[in-house]
Amino acid sequence: MPDSRTAPAAAWHQRYRAVPEALPAEWNDTLDVQLAHRSVRRFLPREVSDATLATLIAAAQSASSSSNLQVWSVVAVRDADRKARLAEFCGRQRHVAEAPLFLVWLADYARLLQLAADNQAPLEGQEYLEAGVMGCVDAALAAQNAITAAESLGLGGCYIGGIRNQPEAVAAELQLPPGVFPVFGMSLGYPDPAEDTAVKPRLPQAAVLHHETYALEDQRASVAEYESRIAAFYDEQAMTHGWGGRVLKRLAGPQSLTGRHRLREAWDALGFRLR
Ligand SMILES: Cc1cc2nc3c(=O)[nH]c(=O)nc-3n(C[C@H](O)[C@H](O)[C@H](O)COP(=O)(O)O)c2cc1C
Repeated sequence: MPDSRTAPAAAWHQRYRAVPEALPAEWNDTLDVQLAHRSVRRFLPREVSDATLATLIAAAQSASSSSNLQVWSVVAVRDADRKARLAEFCGRQRHVAEAPLFLVWLADYARLLQLAADNQAPLEGQEYLEAGVMGCVDAALAAQNAITAAESLGLGGCYIGGIRNQPEAVAAELQLPPGVFPVFGMSLGYPDPAEDTAVKPRLPQAAVLHHETYALEDQRASVAEYESRIAAFYDEQAMTHGWGGRVLKRLAGPQSLTGRHRLREAWDALGFRLR
């Protein structure tokens, strides 16, 4: 009889490329789905039904929300021409156009601004940086619930930060009212098994989990350990450069931000003062 705890050990090993110090004490199907996450960028030509979309949104709306303000929304895009235009705005990312369903997750104060106007009430809180942070946090929590739900149903997808390369163009395309900012996109569909992807290993837990107080010195050893573990993954995926090289390139300067160095200006243009 197979050991019922082989599955968690295998999932753990895939996630860290390391044998767990101890087998996880508790396990279930939710953890199976979470630890098996991988971004999917190639899809079968199979639609995501309205019923499935509704299920994903119910999962999204089940996430916590700051003070239950629910300052997020999502635009579901299926129209091929619109997806193609959005793909261009996102830095010509092919999988944005090719995914059967593309979701644009929004930090959304439009309905609260409308509520305030209808009640002739002030909404000065929307002018502060905190409002932008709340909108992004709410949108991210909702989106993560949605993608996990999707993965649990056999779908796959990929977040698209490229939506922030040209936020004003995205806003015009989606006819976003003032007070709404596109935070990220998400391509979704049924994974094409021909895509050769694997679970991407993460930093050792020692890098991200601190006990009581933060320990920076210990990070060097964790990062070095991670470099050696992720090297095998990069080799398998025919990817060049190590993790450190990648992160340094990604954040080297404004030129590496693919247009996002002017995000404050874009938020302002879309109705957020962020003071
Ligand atoms: C907010 C966010 C934005 C992202 N933007 C993009 C993107 O524009 N294009 C892309 O191909 N992948 C994008 N990704 C996917 C990441 O590259 C991916 O999650 C990361 O490399 C880890 O791989 P994994 O998701 O397979 O574990 C994004 C991920 C997040 C969370």
